[in-house]
Amino acid sequence: MPSEPLTIYLDYNATTPVRPEVVDAMTPYFGVCFGNASSGHGLGREAKGALEEAREAVASALGARERESVVFTSGGTEANNLAIKGTAWAAWGRGRHIITSAVEHRAVLGACHALEAQGFEIVCLPVDADGLIDPERVKQSLRTDTALISFMHANNETGVVFPIAEIGRLAREREIIFHVDAVQTFGRLPVNVDALGVDLLTISGHKIYGPKGIGALYIRPGTKIAPQMHGGEQEFGVRAGTENVAAVVGLARAALLARESMPTENERLRTLRDRLEEGILCRIPGVRRNGDRDQRLPNTSNISFQGIRADSLMVALDLEGIAVSAGAACASGSPESSHVLRAMGRRPEIDGGGVRFSLGAGTTEVEIEHILELLPPLVERVRAATGQGGGQEYNAEHNP
Ligand SMILES: Cc1ncc(COP(=O)(O)O)c(C=O)c1O
Repeated sequence: MPSEPLTIYLDYNATTPVRPEVVDAMTPYFGVCFGNASSGHGLGREAKGALEEAREAVASALGARERESVVFTSGGTEANNLAIKGTAWAAWGRGRHIITSAVEHRAVLGACHALEAQGFEIVCLPVDADGLIDPERVKQSLRTDTALISFMHANNETGVVFPIAEIGRLAREREIIFHVDAVQTFGRLPVNVDALGVDLLTISGHKIYGPKGIGALYIRPGTKIAPQMHGGEQEFGVRAGTENVAAVVGLARAALLARESMPTENERLRTLRDRLEEGILCRIPGVRRNGDRDQRLPNTSNISFQGIRADSLMVALDLEGIAVSAGAACASGSPESSHVLRAMGRRPEIDGGGVRFSLGAGTTEVEIEHILELLPPLVERVRAATGQGGGQEYNAEHNP
């Protein structure tokens, strides 16, 4: 049974509601147009037509010239696994050195760790206190046997955006395969595979008001990739399994709608996010922003409240009907579990982890004002309940 409707949802980096237009576009493919895209009859051809039209739309949204460069998967996690393991195994014998960062999504770090156990050498580059990566550091880490570089475009916890185009140039100069996890940026920032200089790029449907369980991997023509799913010849032999036509159609429609609304929506969200963040930093003692102020997604604010565990505050807000996140949605409840904040040099015993406010299509000014009214006394109450105070000096020192 669905739970009570939430009053205020500020967890759009975790997932988004499916737009009604997307539901409308998908609906026929659950019913009258139920064909298998691999069937040779009329219903199958109809499904195949919808699949290829959607592929064309997604390729175009990515600035990709070739429709065949888009391979649909069950989501961002599978696309990341396919990109990383698929490239690594295809490069076996030529290079076993893989470069990534310490703040990647677990779908990337997990795939890398699995490869490490199988004889690959993984280098996880550190980030600075603002969560940024230094391209010079990437350059210094390159080796003749580097098989793959994999970085995220924007971090899901802090929203910090990496200098992907710069890293892409380095990768190209040395002809090293470059993968980018663009799950948090596709549909939110311009993502063009040529401008970014990527060979592989991951996207997901449910972050952009599309359905869950659908994603895609862009594969630059000529990039060697070993399939990770074996079976039929679907998706150009790279990803076996009957395609989820309804979800694919939904992803394509969501991508189109996101592209149309991006400039105005980003401006609106940036204004609301800044209002929220500045309000919190001004009104509550002992708080700190996590992540670079400028190189950031316009909808994301990650804040530590000194002396309070982020998950305690998340629960307190939930009881008030406000949904936020303590770290990534897929991480466990403890503040220590944020590998992202730890990589930025945060100390969980003092910072308590970070509360992520991620805004989206449904966020209004009224909601932001409501939170700014509610939060200061709530933080005080939680601090009093846990016997922890917060110091003014923390704000001045850490939020220039
Ligand atoms: C940066 C990033 N990569 C990958 C994923 C995984 O995508 P999916 O949920 O579609 O498997 C997420 C989802 O939270 C994400 O934020």
